[in-house]
Amino acid sequence: MSITALGYLGVSSPRYQDWREFGGAVLGAQVTDDGPDGAVRLRIDDVDWRVQIHPGEQDRLEYIGWLAHSEKDLPALVDTLAGVGIEASWGSRELAESRGVFTLITFTDPWGFSHEVAWGQTRSASGFIPGRPMSGFVTGAQGLGHVVLILPDVDAGHTFFTETLGFEFSDAIIDPTIGDPEHGFYGRFYHVNTRHHTLALVNGPPHLAGLHHLMLQVRSIDDMGTAHGLLDRHNVPETLGIGRHTNDEMVSFYCTTPSLFNIEYGYDGIELDTDHTPKLFGRGSIWGHKLNPESRHRAPGLMHPLPTPTT
Ligand SMILES: [Fe+2]
Repeated sequence: MSITALGYLGVSSPRYQDWREFGGAVLGAQVTDDGPDGAVRLRIDDVDWRVQIHPGEQDRLEYIGWLAHSEKDLPALVDTLAGVGIEASWGSRELAESRGVFTLITFTDPWGFSHEVAWGQTRSASGFIPGRPMSGFVTGAQGLGHVVLILPDVDAGHTFFTETLGFEFSDAIIDPTIGDPEHGFYGRFYHVNTRHHTLALVNGPPHLAGLHHLMLQVRSIDDMGTAHGLLDRHNVPETLGIGRHTNDEMVSFYCTTPSLFNIEYGYDGIELDTDHTPKLFGRGSIWGHKLNPESRHRAPGLMHPLPTPTT
């Protein structure tokens, strides 16, 4: 498997400056030195930065940065992508520098998500200094966290992400009590390391795709509860209240970022054994995760139109 972790994430947003308060005071990330274009950069461990919010006129998911085990894995991935009609490009020296990696390839998937697969993420010399007192984030071999993508056809996504990109199926949830009022929730979850899932695909409207949330996992339940208690003070809308998921057993809440997608802020997620057997769950949560009614008026995530077929 060439992809071994989620390494970094980049969005652009007219409210990028709001991430200084949201990222530092609410999430507890370190707001580190700005990028060359003025981007706000968040550090959550010993990597230089993990989330970059660029200045932009519209909210947009710019790139999902995956990490490869070795730079030698990248040419094979370029060939594999070519085999399914996707042209990957090698990133320039300038692009690699702006992402804080040694080398990378870039490509766009059939749903219009821009992916980067990189090797050699730069470590900070100065370590992690949290934006507020907290015990830190669970990263290391488990990477940045997980991303949950909304797309119209979860089963087509399953084929692409498992067969072309090598993600391993963890399990699925079909829950008629949450998600789309007509169709309910259908999600599939994938791992590339011991984190229960690094990627999930969930069902959405026919002509749109998007980023529902980025999950960050903290080391203590107090860190999670403290962040939840700070939402009101910093005018951050809660999306789902505190609850525990069925499949990864994460105790978490969800809030809306200044850039339309959500952060799941979690604690206590399980790690998978090597003999893991995928299961089907009939509910998304064991308890809690109550939907904040006001969030019904917001977009489900940072959405974009599906690309129009070229043939
Ligand atoms: Fe999640």
